[in-house]
Amino acid sequence: MRGTEKASVLLASNRGPVSFTSSDDGVLTAKRGGGGLVSGLSSVAADGAGQVWVCAALSDGDREAAERCPGGRLDRAGLVDSSMPVRLLDIDPETLHGAYNGVANSTLWFIQHMLYATPFAPAFGQAAALEWDAYTAYNKAFADALADEAAPEARVLVQDYHLALVPKLLRDLRPDLRIGHFSHTPWAPPDYFRILPDHIADAVLEGMLGADYLGFLTERWARAFMDCCVRQFGAQADYGPAGMSVSSDRAGHETPTRIGVHGLGVDAPSMIERASRSDVDDRLATLREAVGDRQVIVRVDRTELSKNIVRGLDAYADLLRRYPEWRGRVVHIAFAYPSRYDLPEYRDYTAAVTSTAKEISDEFGTPDWQPLILHVEDDFARSLAAYRIADVALVNPIRDGMNLVAKEIPIIASATGGGCGLVLSREAGAFAELGEDALVVNPYDITGTADALHEALAMDRDERRARCGRLAAAGAALPPQQWLADQLAAL
Ligand code: G6P
Repeated sequence: MRGTEKASVLLASNRGPVSFTSSDDGVLTAKRGGGGLVSGLSSVAADGAGQVWVCAALSDGDREAAERCPGGRLDRAGLVDSSMPVRLLDIDPETLHGAYNGVANSTLWFIQHMLYATPFAPAFGQAAALEWDAYTAYNKAFADALADEAAPEARVLVQDYHLALVPKLLRDLRPDLRIGHFSHTPWAPPDYFRILPDHIADAVLEGMLGADYLGFLTERWARAFMDCCVRQFGAQADYGPAGMSVSSDRAGHETPTRIGVHGLGVDAPSMIERASRSDVDDRLATLREAVGDRQVIVRVDRTELSKNIVRGLDAYADLLRRYPEWRGRVVHIAFAYPSRYDLPEYRDYTAAVTSTAKEISDEFGTPDWQPLILHVEDDFARSLAAYRIADVALVNPIRDGMNLVAKEIPIIASATGGGCGLVLSREAGAFAELGEDALVVNPYDITGTADALHEALAMDRDERRARCGRLAAAGAALPPQQWLADQLAAL
């Protein structure tokens, strides 16, 4: 996009495609994110004409970058390539903190993943009220920026629970726009969702219904959202064969809000290519040396409460106790990367992961067998190396919107090795697409998870390879470019 032209396709998300660090002498260094949305949006218009990505400045470096650019437009000041126009919103740090850590990551994330220990939390008092005000102001800043950037009748794709209020706010400002919102998380059933005070539950649902089109990763999450609208304020939900929709006078528009399901998969060719580079080979050699010719159980997660890493480690210990024939013959590689360290719950959870891992090493380790390799620093190349030697992938979240690791490991294990078995939680969105060829577990059932690990390790190699091939095909069926194009078409 050039000059002051308006955009015909707009994307809005809290975290953008680029982040900045600033050195002591004021030099800004940009780091481009590699996520699916980045490649997806790039494919919509190769030269960047007519599109813009609106996102929040999350760090001091980001804020400095935003300040240096008129209107926060990084591309117009040459801070990013013109093929990826970005408007970075310089929201004041206190508002951002209340919106991001307070409401988005603590309240809405915990609700949608059903993470609360309810005798103690949540408790909505004065502090929560201030956070809610911050969340509202932060959503308004996005709506204002989108209204400013959009050409007449432009299509706007708003991402996730950070920006639940944006569709309605934006429609009030610009009724000409076609607005979509996509939820990358699960959606809680009404009884759990209604833990939220009514004014917050109303605002979230009404805010989203302000869109023309709402996307979810699975039908289960879409239906849960619709059920919440029905229970919370008597909206009319249509689950009919002509397509799902919700009608309510709270939506702020006459036409029903259409609801669609768009599973998200992996860009397999580019991931396979990435996994064959020399930095991955180097890490593979190191891992191989550590595990020898033993079978390998791999898990890779952000250290996130919903990922259920501690119960996964407990299940591995249970496997070694109840199936002692695996001692000395299997190694568990567990990578748990840092996430949302501003929140005490996440810091505590990381400590629990580390101490549980140590207990396993102390109980079972021998001078010539290290039963568990745990790493807590981020290293994407090392993750890909682990994918290449996986015999079994363990993906056991309490609840997860999709879980791309469940797709990535079979894709890489199938392309570069003998294939792997997948032990998969029935509460991951990926279960809808992968359930038939995975060994499916209840994530709270440690004994059942240990039994599934045993079954996967003992599985006939031909059967494992055949299942892995089907898992890989399913995982590659819905690449991000397609996911984005389908939603734009639906608008
Ligand atoms: C996960 C979720 C997304 C969410 C993202 C935010 O990837 O699946 O729904 O947008 O986390 O992560 P962040 O690190 O920005 O808090």
